[in-house]
Amino acid sequence: MVALDGPSGTGKTTVARRLAERLGAGYLDSGAMYRVVTLAVLRAGADPDDAARVTEIAGETVFTIGTSPDSPLVTLGTEDVTAAIRGNDINQTVSAVSAIPDVRRLLIDRQRTIITEVLAETGGVVVEGRDIGTVVAPDAPLKIYLTASAEIRAARRSAQDSAAGRESTPADALASVNRRDHLDSSRATSPLRPAEDAVHVDTSELSIDQVIVALAELAGRRGMLG
Ligand code: DC
Repeated sequence: MVALDGPSGTGKTTVARRLAERLGAGYLDSGAMYRVVTLAVLRAGADPDDAARVTEIAGETVFTIGTSPDSPLVTLGTEDVTAAIRGNDINQTVSAVSAIPDVRRLLIDRQRTIITEVLAETGGVVVEGRDIGTVVAPDAPLKIYLTASAEIRAARRSAQDSAAGRESTPADALASVNRRDHLDSSRATSPLRPAEDAVHVDTSELSIDQVIVALAELAGRRGMLG
């Protein structure tokens, strides 16, 4: 298992999926779970700061998270929400939802169950998030902490938004990245921080291919050959 943590805009999702493909492993996007619950909260018209109500929604919401690295489909009920969970409304609200300890407990339980299932099926899994190496799977044999400068991350996020047809300027993206970093790293329950034994990889000056090569080599050294 590979735990891949770090803030948004470091290339984490692309890296996690490509690394999983290369290793013949499954893939789990833990952030997608916080996003799908956030979508359910917004659709219910609930206040994202109402911890009791949001926890209730998190417990009732029926969703699935695909674990195939080439097409990780996310559904809410029977609806495909893979694209909908990436919208600006979700970006604005997901930090509030993911800061609620009872919501985290529910989703972390679910993450551990999926990790166990995928490991049994494929023998390997790459899990991306913020607290995978610190909280969800502290025994993971390989922990990676991806970083990149805030400016580079904002530029990447803005390009991603434009490609997906969402309006965004680099300045908007920088403000949004800084805001989410602050919220994610200052929350009381499992804040964004590297595990002590994580390998830090700064992707600011690296192409995705270079990052994959570096990580595949690290995985190979720990016996995870792809
Ligand atoms: O990786 P992402 O941008 O899709 O994550 C969305 C939000 O979910 C992010 O603002 C922080 C939160 N998150 C979290 O708290 N813990 C995780 N393991 C993954 C994501």
